[in-house]
Amino acid sequence: MQISPFRIEEYMGKYEFAARYLLSSSDAESQTIQEILALEPGAHDAFLNHWCGYTESPGAPWLRDVLATMYSQISPDQLVVLSAAEEAIFVFYHALLTPQDHAIVETPCYESALTVPKSTGAAVSEWRRNAANAWAHDFSALESLVRPTTRAIYINSPHNPTGLLMPPDIFRRVLDLAARHGIYVFSDEVYRELEHDPTTRLPAACDLYERALSLGSVSKTYGLPGLRLGWLACRDASILQKIISFKHYTTICASAPSEFLTAVAFRHRQKFIGRSLQIVLRNLPQLSAFFSRHADLFEWTPPNASTIGFVRFKPAQDVQSFCERLVREAGVLLLPGTVYDEPRHIRFGYGRRNMPESLAHLESWLATFP
Ligand SMILES: Cc1ncc(COP(=O)(O)O)c(C=O)c1O
Repeated sequence: MQISPFRIEEYMGKYEFAARYLLSSSDAESQTIQEILALEPGAHDAFLNHWCGYTESPGAPWLRDVLATMYSQISPDQLVVLSAAEEAIFVFYHALLTPQDHAIVETPCYESALTVPKSTGAAVSEWRRNAANAWAHDFSALESLVRPTTRAIYINSPHNPTGLLMPPDIFRRVLDLAARHGIYVFSDEVYRELEHDPTTRLPAACDLYERALSLGSVSKTYGLPGLRLGWLACRDASILQKIISFKHYTTICASAPSEFLTAVAFRHRQKFIGRSLQIVLRNLPQLSAFFSRHADLFEWTPPNASTIGFVRFKPAQDVQSFCERLVREAGVLLLPGTVYDEPRHIRFGYGRRNMPESLAHLESWLATFP
């Protein structure tokens, strides 16, 4: 297996733990183990007594019971728990694809969604969206990419990096197209439940189409990335079995303490959603006002979901050098679009409590900017 460097994670890894002001993070504000355990009487003692043996490969049954309540058509045995969404992406593509197969990936995207299928030797086509038409989805372009060998389509809504929802009619047409050709849809829904207007939430793909896998994670909307816990929900038993067989070669099972903490947190999921949404809705108008004040530098298609947005940097300057200078001189971390092959864009994050402070530091640094 040959795989190219994960540019997003390499850039974040270089600066995330040194920079003071994180202004591009995609995970919502986190919380402590103590805060999670305080949600339920008895949870503290139960956690201390929780057995640290191996857990079941598909995930602890009592955790899958809780996760299944997120879906209308999914029973607990139609869920596989993984060590975060990242493992799910890796395992899905490797369990499914051979060098004779073809996959289609909506791009720009979270990098592994594109590099992992390539690493299997399969042919991979990009269903690329474009800033010039406000990141619209060109459905006929997707149709024209389908081949007799296409086995998977990766979609991501709410979307990293634009923070935009897929329009509902496009979502349904993608699932119908896949159904006509028997293609699996890998629907990356890790930012689901953080729609800025909850009435715009799309159904989970696994509830609409039998060969759709809905990818969930505690990392983003719920702000618990350190638990490293994610899951796949799907009604097709054969792909879930392949995923479990492959998982025996990666992690065997998820972390027992993380399964416990996730089950507690998810019995109170609405609290996590409410908290993240409150932060995002407070931060967004401040960020928009900042872009209006600096319209000579920045322009964006305002996001309608998630904790992130993708902003065009107007000066004819190298975006990566701009971001690196900013983090070195002011300690403010932005993510250059070069890591998404979008060299005119920058990813901003607005899911952290201290976003106003980070923004103020960016603004005073810009005052010195040539
Ligand atoms: C769209 C998308 N999918 C998957 C992941 C991986 O998430 P996790 O932390 O659960 O591995 C990310 C993380 O940034 C993401 O943005």
